[in-house]
Amino acid sequence: MAGDEEESKTGGAEGVEDDTAPKMKELHMRERAIARAEDLQETKVEGKMRDRSGLTELHFNETIQQAVNKKLDELEISNGRLNSAAKIFKKICGHYPAAIGKAVSKKERQDDALEEQSLVYGEIQFRTFALALEKIRHKYGGLSEPGGIFVDVGSGSGKPVFAAMLMHEFDRVIGIEILTGLHELSRDMEAIWHERKHKIGGITEKMSKTQIEFIRGDIFNVDWSDATLAFVNSTCFDDEMMNRLVEPADKMKPGSFFISFTRRIPSENWQVLEYERHLMSWGDATVFIHQRKADLQT
Ligand SMILES: C[S@@+](CC[C@H](N)C(=O)[O-])C[C@H]1O[C@@H](n2cnc3c(N)ncnc32)[C@H](O)[C@@H]1O
Repeated sequence: MAGDEEESKTGGAEGVEDDTAPKMKELHMRERAIARAEDLQETKVEGKMRDRSGLTELHFNETIQQAVNKKLDELEISNGRLNSAAKIFKKICGHYPAAIGKAVSKKERQDDALEEQSLVYGEIQFRTFALALEKIRHKYGGLSEPGGIFVDVGSGSGKPVFAAMLMHEFDRVIGIEILTGLHELSRDMEAIWHERKHKIGGITEKMSKTQIEFIRGDIFNVDWSDATLAFVNSTCFDDEMMNRLVEPADKMKPGSFFISFTRRIPSENWQVLEYERHLMSWGDATVFIHQRKADLQT
């Protein structure tokens, strides 16, 4: 994998030198763990390994695919939809491994001297993310009818937008990303989608007509209140960012859903339906599934 070659040459996915400021060093350690663990989706790793920081011990004894299949079995959900969507996802997004997103993000952050922790890059694993959508559909009564609006709040190269679109017939799917380079990557993948969607099997007529919108902008300056399912990969978001998310999240309609990673939406207006630890590309993280309560608490 290109990212791994780069990693061995530079001593880290982002080539961090030893004299980097401590705060950035910690962030880059997390990114290196993400880069190194990237292939776990299809590679079985048994036992335990230590990330390069030496601080985190990661335990693996099954692939993400095996873990997700086991969970679907437990929930008595067929893996047909997820497997079929996974194949299409690979055809659309497979040419853009997470190492590309990381490199693009890193360059822009370095060029523009952006040091916010919330800009640290990482990507979903398709199957883990898709499992959350299957749970919303089968356990919590969401996604029962075609339609609705999906938004990824901080969409990176756009993979969750495509994953959501392939797992449910949304009317619109939206990705909001502040970094220009990542936004452009998502537009590249969108072009691949439009070019290939009629040649790839398994895509429904409705899905092929889903309106895709990638917005280059700040999640706090874009109105996404009409989303029926929102997602935030918030592993690197700090308390301040999570607290700022409350205002736009609370504007979503009662009954809508929100998936977040590592941190819950810190609002009384959102009920946490469940939280479960899942293996991610960077180790394991908690996936929260929330639903907007009917009555706004003030
Ligand atoms: C961990 S990445 C997740 C990318 C993608 N959602 C995924 O899970 O594959 C978080 C993304 O949020 C973006 N981000 C952070 N703060 C943002 C803001 N205020 N507005 C828009 N995007 C933001 C970062 O640049 C980064 O691409």
